Amino acid sequence: MLWILCLGFCGLLPRTQADPGALLRLGMDVMNHEVQSAMDESHILEKMAAEAGKKRPGVKPIKGLTNLKVKDVKLPVIALSFIPGVGIFQCVSTGMTITGKSFMGGNMEIIVVLNITATNRLLQDEETGLPTFKSEGCEVILVSVKTNLPSNMLPKVVNKFLDSTLHKVLPDLMCPAIDAVLVYVNRKWANLNAAMPVGQMGTVKYVLTSIPTATANYIQVDFSPVVQQQEGNAIQLADAREVLEFPKDYATGSSQLLLSAAFLTAELALLQKSFDVTVRDRMIGELPPQTTKTLAGFIPEVAEAYPKPKPLVTQIRINKPPKVTMKMGKSLLLLHGTLEMLAARRRGRAPVSIFLLEAHFNLKVQYSVREDRLQMATSLDRLLSLSRVSSSIGTFNEKELTGFITDYLREAYIPVINDALQVGLPLPDILDMNYNLAELDIVENALVLDLKLD
Ligand SMILES: *[C@@H]1O[C@H](CO)[C@@H](O)[C@H](O)[C@H]1NC(C)=O
Repeated sequence: MLWILCLGFCGLLPRTQADPGALLRLGMDVMNHEVQSAMDESHILEKMAAEAGKKRPGVKPIKGLTNLKVKDVKLPVIALSFIPGVGIFQCVSTGMTITGKSFMGGNMEIIVVLNITATNRLLQDEETGLPTFKSEGCEVILVSVKTNLPSNMLPKVVNKFLDSTLHKVLPDLMCPAIDAVLVYVNRKWANLNAAMPVGQMGTVKYVLTSIPTATANYIQVDFSPVVQQQEGNAIQLADAREVLEFPKDYATGSSQLLLSAAFLTAELALLQKSFDVTVRDRMIGELPPQTTKTLAGFIPEVAEAYPKPKPLVTQIRINKPPKVTMKMGKSLLLLHGTLEMLAARRRGRAPVSIFLLEAHFNLKVQYSVREDRLQMATSLDRLLSLSRVSSSIGTFNEKELTGFITDYLREAYIPVINDALQVGLPLPDILDMNYNLAELDIVENALVLDLKLD
């Protein structure tokens, strides 16, 4: 009994697996577009028509009709609908003219309008782990049949002939078309689990968490992305306590990609080293000249130690993995590191540390998409804390430096971060998706890309 109960209820239980780092919802808009383009790319019905005239081994000739040819295949109209828990129901409506020499000797034309229907079951390929559609239960339904047979022929004879002919020949002719189109659709998932580079730092791989599921309105694909350092370990996604959810306000039938803050955080861990920088420039943006004299304006102790102005060298080291947070409409990048100011010395001699501060600051992140990559641009939100770790000029009040360091981060450091972020974060390579048109939305703990078709 238990297993029967389980059949009913287990499907309703929440998943016990780790929360996926990314979710994809494919609505009817995308699926229609994909199947239609697969149909066009495959030129399948035309190919079938061309095949029809050829003698195929193992296929019996049709009684009473020789020299069979198919012409004027009508542009197929495809109608899809989701079957919850199974996949997609597909109906291809088309028409064609079948010509041949009839048993009565004359040329015969049969104009048929037909529907080909099949269930495209959504599976996960055991070998590749990729989602894949497999067609089942293909049927050909005759919508209308017209012939040029003389009208004085008994309808019964005509019907019998057409029935035995068409019902025998059409499924063999048309059902492989459905399978062939699915080959094209399935091919569009083929690159999905390829490792995609994030600069020179590592790769991201969109691995399926489970078999994609079909609901009444969309197909949902859950990803547990693997973020891999170039030479090193995979970066674990922080165990997100929050359940990832799509906001409810998207139109039925539309498609979205959701990327969790935890996933973006793991990706940015790949870039952590490129956020370290040593700045030696004397003039930076709007900042005053970077010398000990400028610094002495905030901390008199510097003037005592360096009566003659020396150029400054600044080293910023990020010592904790950057963290991305998202709240309705706002995303921050939290950075934690050290900022050391040093006095340059003559050529060939190492600069001398003046002081080392620990700094904790937030950047505001703006997202966009360019060429299938998520782009991030940051601006300084707030310097959260500044504390002195060491000093060669004795104790001083580091709070006096808040304004100076804030300006420094904004002018000298944020451009470095934005430069490093230019590599972009790869988006899943699926169904030839054009992400450029996506509308981006920051929601609780995630970024949502509302996908639009060309
Ligand atoms: C054939 O398909 C079209 C389009 O999906 C549908 O409107 C029509 O009812 C179908 N006809 C038959 C006989 O199934």
